[in-house]
Amino acid sequence: MSAPHILATGRCLPARVVSNEDLSQTVDTSDQWVFSRTGIHSRHFCQSETGLDLALGAARQAMERSGLTAADIGVCLVGTFTPDHASPSTACLLQRELGLPEDTICFDLNAACAGFLYGLQTAHALLPGAPRPYAIVVGAEVISRVMDMTDRNTCVLFGDGAGAAVIRRDETRTWHTVFGARGDQSSIRVQGPGPVPSAIHMEGKPVFRFAAEVVEGSIRQLLEADGLTSVNDLDLVVCHQANARIIDHVAKRLKAREGLFYKNMDRYGNTSAASIPIALDELVQSGALLPGMRVLMVGFGGGLTWAGALLRW
Ligand code: ACO
Repeated sequence: MSAPHILATGRCLPARVVSNEDLSQTVDTSDQWVFSRTGIHSRHFCQSETGLDLALGAARQAMERSGLTAADIGVCLVGTFTPDHASPSTACLLQRELGLPEDTICFDLNAACAGFLYGLQTAHALLPGAPRPYAIVVGAEVISRVMDMTDRNTCVLFGDGAGAAVIRRDETRTWHTVFGARGDQSSIRVQGPGPVPSAIHMEGKPVFRFAAEVVEGSIRQLLEADGLTSVNDLDLVVCHQANARIIDHVAKRLKAREGLFYKNMDRYGNTSAASIPIALDELVQSGALLPGMRVLMVGFGGGLTWAGALLRW
């Protein structure tokens, strides 16, 4: 067995912070409605920043903290459903900006909000055949680009940002993973390809039910695979930060102790593929996530997709 060892993380958020109060100036909503339904108070939206800027900011931070140089990287993956271009990929542009060697394996992957964990698994699987033993995995989104700012059903939910991790393959470690896909065009959709993508469409209630089902199911599967009987045997659970009510619902069903499930959507909203690496970086930087801790991560979103991983930090 082997598992990815996450050596360092980084994050990058655009400068502009938009509160629920700000949004209530343009759509019929309120901080009270949004916070009570989602746990979100504010989010960051790009003004002049591109998705590449965010990915680069997060990747540079992770690289610096890892102590590695560009010449050590063999794989560079970006999880995103809102890239700057259909082509070139953000990963290819990162190759140039970071100065990664030209034989680095670089591509974007779209698994929506499960994108970071799909990327982690893919990078881990690619590393044995890669030219060098380290990979950089990024989740980067500019969701404001595909949002209808007059649609109160969606414009209050999402935010822009990026998170990154530098990993290597560690043959002495083990991890457990779960991946899933359920083709569904009706509940979450961004139309394309085309000159201008349509605004994101989401049917909130079915997505809520789907999320509650797969998050709980994935956690139960991963606990069983690791021989654990309770979620409280873990040190941390980091779910995709779509809605505090989804997390609270699952935590209650699993009888989790207070604080086990991390939440930061109050400040970022739903940043899709970026939400898990942003959360990991916050936890590492605050000293709450330490080597040896048992961490379980679960992502879910458009596709529909879901992914979970249980590893020791
Ligand atoms: N402000 C005020 N009222 C609003 C707002 C708003 N921003 N948005 C909707 N409403 C209204 C609706 O119009 C509706 O009014 P009506 O009853 O008169 O028709 C009422 O509030 C209730 O709306 P619901 O849709 O029933 O609200 P719900 O409690 O289901 O919450 C929400 C909506 C927050 C979207 C929730 O369903 C949810 O979080 N779903 C899951 C989303 C998710 O997890 N997405 C992850 C994947 S995203 C990806 O992959 C890119």
